[in-house]
Amino acid sequence: MSNQNEDRILSLFPTPLYTYKLEAEAYASVQNELQIVVDKLYLNNTWAQNPNWSSNSQLLSNKGNFVESILKIEDMEVVKSFILDHCLEFMRLQEVKPNYKPAIESSWLTLTTPGLSSHIHDHGSTHISGVYWFKTNGQDGDLVFRNAFKALKCNPIGADAANEARFSPEQGRIVLWPGYLDHSVNENKTSEDRISLSFNIILETGEFEISDMQAFMIEQIQKQNFQTGVA
Ligand SMILES: [Fe+2]
Repeated sequence: MSNQNEDRILSLFPTPLYTYKLEAEAYASVQNELQIVVDKLYLNNTWAQNPNWSSNSQLLSNKGNFVESILKIEDMEVVKSFILDHCLEFMRLQEVKPNYKPAIESSWLTLTTPGLSSHIHDHGSTHISGVYWFKTNGQDGDLVFRNAFKALKCNPIGADAANEARFSPEQGRIVLWPGYLDHSVNENKTSEDRISLSFNIILETGEFEISDMQAFMIEQIQKQNFQTGVA
């Protein structure tokens, strides 16, 4: 006979994060396309810090101008498609309503040389923010997320709940999260550079061009939502 009072503590309202490590073939295509752009940035010496940030902040491909998108400027079709595919998968797993479509709002490459880090920040009202680790030795600075429910740490009830979650960087892995989530990147204490691609995604309801694979994934979301009764 089951005990009706077994689960006395309910942990409500989890924050969804999506993470996926690319497999061999997709990894090679994404890395090859990014390598061309990274080589160009080194060649033209166009990495630069955002002038409003502290001197130990990461270097960026577009000097912190988040209106311009490196994925648009450099026309990286493979990388764009890979990001949108994983956003759609994140949306499918989260049972997002099928009238929402992901669009890249901004994107930039980040160069973290030894001694640099990223202060704690969020990405404002962006629906999905993300990172793809292009080059990392795995020890050059963890990505640290803070619990979105900040009140927990100020109250003895719930004070033991996790205040932060750490991800060690891993070459070929993508991580997606809701843009409101506070995060930072620890100092690169190794002697090697880390390079990552960051991006902001908005979910819009207008018409847009999609690939056959994306159309297929949207169809899957619609089918799943139909089966589960999500309108
Ligand atoms: Fe960020």
